[in-house]
Amino acid sequence: GRVSLWGGRFSGGPADALAALSKSTHFDWRLAPQDLAGSRAHARVLHAAGLLDDATLEAMLDGLEQLRRDVESGAFTPAPDDEDVHTALERGLIERAGADVGGRLRAGRSRNDQVATLFRMYLREQARTIGGLVLDVVDSLVSQSTRHLGVAMPGRTHLQHAQPVLLSHHLLAHVWALLRDVDRLLDWDRRTAISPYGSGALAGSSLGLDPEAVAADLGFDGSVENSIDGTASRDFVAEFSFVCAMTAVDISRIAEEVVLWATKEFGFVRLDDAYSTGSSIMPQKKNPDVAELARGKAGRLVGDLAGLLTTLKALPLAYNRDLQEDKEPVFDAVDTLSLLLPAFAGMVETMEFDEKRLESLAPEGFSLATDIAEWLVRQGVPFRIAHEVAGACVRACEPLGIELWDLSDEDLLDISPHLTSGVREVLSVEGSLASRSAKGGTAPTRVAEQLERARDELARL
Ligand code: ARG
Repeated sequence: GRVSLWGGRFSGGPADALAALSKSTHFDWRLAPQDLAGSRAHARVLHAAGLLDDATLEAMLDGLEQLRRDVESGAFTPAPDDEDVHTALERGLIERAGADVGGRLRAGRSRNDQVATLFRMYLREQARTIGGLVLDVVDSLVSQSTRHLGVAMPGRTHLQHAQPVLLSHHLLAHVWALLRDVDRLLDWDRRTAISPYGSGALAGSSLGLDPEAVAADLGFDGSVENSIDGTASRDFVAEFSFVCAMTAVDISRIAEEVVLWATKEFGFVRLDDAYSTGSSIMPQKKNPDVAELARGKAGRLVGDLAGLLTTLKALPLAYNRDLQEDKEPVFDAVDTLSLLLPAFAGMVETMEFDEKRLESLAPEGFSLATDIAEWLVRQGVPFRIAHEVAGACVRACEPLGIELWDLSDEDLLDISPHLTSGVREVLSVEGSLASRSAKGGTAPTRVAEQLERARDELARL
């Protein structure tokens, strides 16, 4: 029959249906490297506590090393009867080091503190990788901002022309959002760098093992204050999943703009062939699939987070088997971002902006009306009146199909005696941009400084 980790109390092995339900090796096998590192550290504290003699420790570490090599080469894989990664690796160790040596490793630890520790180790590693991939996207946005510094575009609210802005200013807005996502990962890591090893099943270990030593051995900053919290908490998983979802949502907002910008109607960007797809029926088509997949995958990552929080909701302390459901959503988030981010960075890096079109559309749609109002305020006109006067300018243009700068000096004076020809200094994109010169504004000098600060931040992270 089936062998299990809890043989003593049971008269037979689990039913096939239970074993099938229970099994997690098809997804938790990716934690094998962390499990083996945890086992090496655990063996060393067992030795330090006098529970393994020198020769046994050596035999155990040798067995673990052989097993590590066999896992790495693929020579050792989970068997159909192994319940989870921990069970499989214990079997592998016993097969290599013998039952007398291998059977000693489980003392003073439980799969509950084991899995909580390994999962933290794994996610900390993934956070570094994902953070790096997000920075690659940031890099590509920064390089586009640098390439097109000084180029104006229509800034929008409600997707309607609002005020002219620099293209670099717009791209840098996405940069700051993504830099905050990377900063969130760093901040998350500070809370996650605490090891639950030594918590045992829930109550701690009675064998004189030093959790701080295991923690240091595994690259943690310390060990948990509370063994129940150590084995039952998964907020580190939920928070990591939130940062993944937030990152995907931030990426999806760029993606949606790229989809629009690549249409004939906008005509702002041309996507590189390497990052576009064609149609099997329409020969002329060039589709922005990378951006669309980014938009779509964001939904998937939000779903991963929602699923995880739902699993955790109202779970009593301490460990419950429901917690085994914590892995697949976050593995999915990691895998999805690992596929998406490199493609997205490549798409952004190779996008070609139509500078002339952006520049020519920047002042259209009466986007300089606010500049007229603000110019009037600088001449001492109350804003309430200034707003109305500027609005009247738009009303004068609209039926004639002309833009604000097409109004003659007489037209302007007819609308309001305040509108002397001096207003023309702000009726240009350059004038409008230059006037927004406070920190955070779109004036070219401010944006150049902003770009420097974004580069500094990129170098710091
Ligand atoms: N594979 C389980 C998990 O991922 C750990 C096993 C703990 N099992 C238990 N019966 N205490 O959560």
